[in-house]
Amino acid sequence: MTDPAPLYADHLRVLMQRAGTALERGGLDHLVIPSGTQHAKLFDDQAYPFFVNPQFKAWLPLLRVPHSWIVYTPGQRPKLIFLQPFDYWHAVPDAPSGWWVAHFDIHIIRTPDQALPLLPGDAARCAILGEPQSTLGAFAPNNPEAVVQYLEYHRSYKTPYEVALMRQAQQLAVRGHRAAEAAFRAGASEFAIHMAYCAAVGQDANDLPYGNIIALNEHCAVLHYTELGRTAPAPSRSFLIDAGADAGGYAADITRTYATDTGSEFQALIDAVDQAQQGMCRAVRAGTDYRQLHIDAHLTLAGILRDFDVLKVSPEAALASGVSAAFFPHGLGHPIGLQVHDVAGFAASDHGGRIERPQGHPYLRMTRVLEPGMVVTIEPGLYFVDMLLEELRGNGHADAVNWSRVDAFRPYGGIRIEDEVLCTEGEADNLTRPVFAAA
Ligand code: GLY
Ligand code: MN
Ligand code: MN
Repeated sequence: MTDPAPLYADHLRVLMQRAGTALERGGLDHLVIPSGTQHAKLFDDQAYPFFVNPQFKAWLPLLRVPHSWIVYTPGQRPKLIFLQPFDYWHAVPDAPSGWWVAHFDIHIIRTPDQALPLLPGDAARCAILGEPQSTLGAFAPNNPEAVVQYLEYHRSYKTPYEVALMRQAQQLAVRGHRAAEAAFRAGASEFAIHMAYCAAVGQDANDLPYGNIIALNEHCAVLHYTELGRTAPAPSRSFLIDAGADAGGYAADITRTYATDTGSEFQALIDAVDQAQQGMCRAVRAGTDYRQLHIDAHLTLAGILRDFDVLKVSPEAALASGVSAAFFPHGLGHPIGLQVHDVAGFAASDHGGRIERPQGHPYLRMTRVLEPGMVVTIEPGLYFVDMLLEELRGNGHADAVNWSRVDAFRPYGGIRIEDEVLCTEGEADNLTRPVFAAA
């Protein structure tokens, strides 16, 4: 696996270049990024888990350092102001170490306000990217639109360092997916499968990029089912797991679906979606409009439903009437990186502007033309969602559906298959499949 360490210097160079242009766009001199603060729970002395400002972790793989700051002034070395409090109640962050340390001027502070004299002289000349709670003296996050737009747009193009970390995240997540499948086949509950996943990855809810979706039977029809039932159903027929991992601040987001009875028709439906999904992944190529991939996915999935005698109409008719959307009611995928649903999926340019979704597809999160360096998920699904099927009946499309076939599949809930794919100058680079194949 690629070691990110030797790639970091180039990554930082790219970030400094981008920051320089972003500051020019904003007419400002310094980029200032607070890591964030702990947020107290209401009427309580406990805090929510700390999640670092994504603008901060873009620069450094530091995820657990509240009240720290990055300062970058073009022409100078970037500065890290690092809070290492005197504290015997909580573990204190280790002194900075790792491949990136040599690239920063590091200032250790012991209390949050000690950052103030280390920040640039004039707060009015700074782009301060953060949450309002990070305000320190005159340094109130202002998030200038021109600066944020530029940085977010260019974050879509992953550096080799970022891709290396994303590959690491895949390795971790696949380890968890293997353990989870084994737990499912042994008859475990959703909660027990979740625990097996976390143990195998070595991460829990505070580390993972999103809450694990671990669903058995009908629960597979709930797109974001995160309840984690404590008792295993009898029998356990189907298992949908959408679970990721974090590596240095970068997310994996992987979904697989399994059937207990591998000779069943539901297994055949899984296999059909799986085959189709691999084709969709191969279609991730520079110059391709992601909106077209999404529309093509509707046609492909409706074709599968027709092959399985669930739909009685052509894929084209199912797409035009909205019938396909009752079975595939989410977007084909989204950009991914520092955030599981990464920024700038709709960005028309680094000056702003928005590329709208196609009419009738309100949940698509990516409307851009693919370019080398972008990483997107490809996650087609087919579900048997009572609420949406009832709507279909009510909308006059009942005749498009073979309802006895729906009844046969309803106890399995649904299917989703999700990989990450890197767009290159040539063929699509599926970050997920080779890791499963090697596991
Ligand atoms: N796990 C959320 C998603 O797939 O987008
Ligand atoms: Mn997912
Ligand atoms: Mn996803």
